Amino acid sequence: MSDTTPNHAGTPRKLRRNMIWILENVHREIPYHLHGLQTPLLPEKFGLAFKRPINILVKPSGKEARSQAGPEEKKASFVSVIAELGPRRTINTKTEGGCNDRRPEKGCPPLEGGTMTVEKEFLVGQVPNQKIVGSLAFPEVLNPSDVVQEDKAKTVAESVKENKKFIEQILHKNGAILFRGFGLKTASDFNQFVEAFGYEELPYVGGAAPRTNVVGQVFTSNESPPDQRIPFHHEMAQVPEYPSKVFFFCELASVQGGETPVVLSHLVYERMAKEWPEFVRDLEEKGLLYNRVLGEGDDPSSPIGRGWQSTFLTRDREEAEKRAAKLGMKLEWLEDGVKTVSGPIPAVKVDEAHGRKVWFNSMVAAYTGWEDSRNVPEKAVTFGDGTPLPREAVLACLKILTEESVSEPWQEGDVLLLDNIQVQHARKPFVPPRRVLAALTK
Ligand SMILES: [Fe+2]
Repeated sequence: MSDTTPNHAGTPRKLRRNMIWILENVHREIPYHLHGLQTPLLPEKFGLAFKRPINILVKPSGKEARSQAGPEEKKASFVSVIAELGPRRTINTKTEGGCNDRRPEKGCPPLEGGTMTVEKEFLVGQVPNQKIVGSLAFPEVLNPSDVVQEDKAKTVAESVKENKKFIEQILHKNGAILFRGFGLKTASDFNQFVEAFGYEELPYVGGAAPRTNVVGQVFTSNESPPDQRIPFHHEMAQVPEYPSKVFFFCELASVQGGETPVVLSHLVYERMAKEWPEFVRDLEEKGLLYNRVLGEGDDPSSPIGRGWQSTFLTRDREEAEKRAAKLGMKLEWLEDGVKTVSGPIPAVKVDEAHGRKVWFNSMVAAYTGWEDSRNVPEKAVTFGDGTPLPREAVLACLKILTEESVSEPWQEGDVLLLDNIQVQHARKPFVPPRRVLAALTK
């Protein structure tokens, strides 16, 4: 690295050139820099990449590095990097609302020997496919701290209850949290976890997916066939009352596929507005109209196979009409089902809490996914005035959604908590068995 370099006490001493510094517990996507030096990740062959601790190899970037940075400058940079990185971060959930902003100028002071917190409940973790958006991890990952692991008597639900406010702060900032390693095993464990937040349950009225209640607030996630991809969507974006939060729990991970990709919706809006300005202008002016034909009874062979009875939670047609009206839907009865027409509904929403626009619609999902024996995808969604959508723009949106998304394989016991205003989700096809459960709250 240099002819002279500081040891841990900051005293310069002679070292060989090309020394490798390995820094542990740094995030793989945060670009830490020493002046004139590169900090690439250790390659896979070291068997360390993407595993915690994630290490970074610091090495000179050739002549340029040597000419730009003298020993003193390197020393100062190195010390500042170490200060920024610190050891594994512990979120202080008990004092000052904790600290989760990794930006050096905003973040916590570095922990010294991990003694910053009084009570440690959660650790900020990492997963391989996590992204850094701006300066925030997406999704944020929370692992149990050693304190929680040692305190066997304390349930995860209790930890959640005590730290609800802090978890909400993270959710507000990052949009999604992956809780990993908390030892949840069953649907009941998950239900307790969800109930610990004390949110009001949102009845799944008007949603498209076939689901079954498992226990308490917990439902199966979309039970559509495993070989089918479920496109990106905000949960229940096509009806006026949608959940503000969506919880997923992996009870049984698939051996292949079955991820639940997530994407920050404001990024999708920003890119669409930049790349398809006219289309977005039309869309903001006209909104969207969704048409879906529901069958008599559920059709598990279809990803949108909820029959009208389970869509409106009644067997009575008049009652179904009333409930549909509340959801802003009109019903036209057919011989073997009912045609629902929703909208026009705005396609873009203002995320008031963050002061930005979000791509809050099911356009791509409907246009590319609402297909079964009763529905033709291209007719499933139109502009609010009934005119067809430009195919290229819809497909471009699909590409943007995919490019901006994060797809992390499930591990059993994982809970993924989404802010349903900020984040869209999808499901990749999988090889069964797989069991991912869901809970929707107001
Ligand atoms: Fe969903």
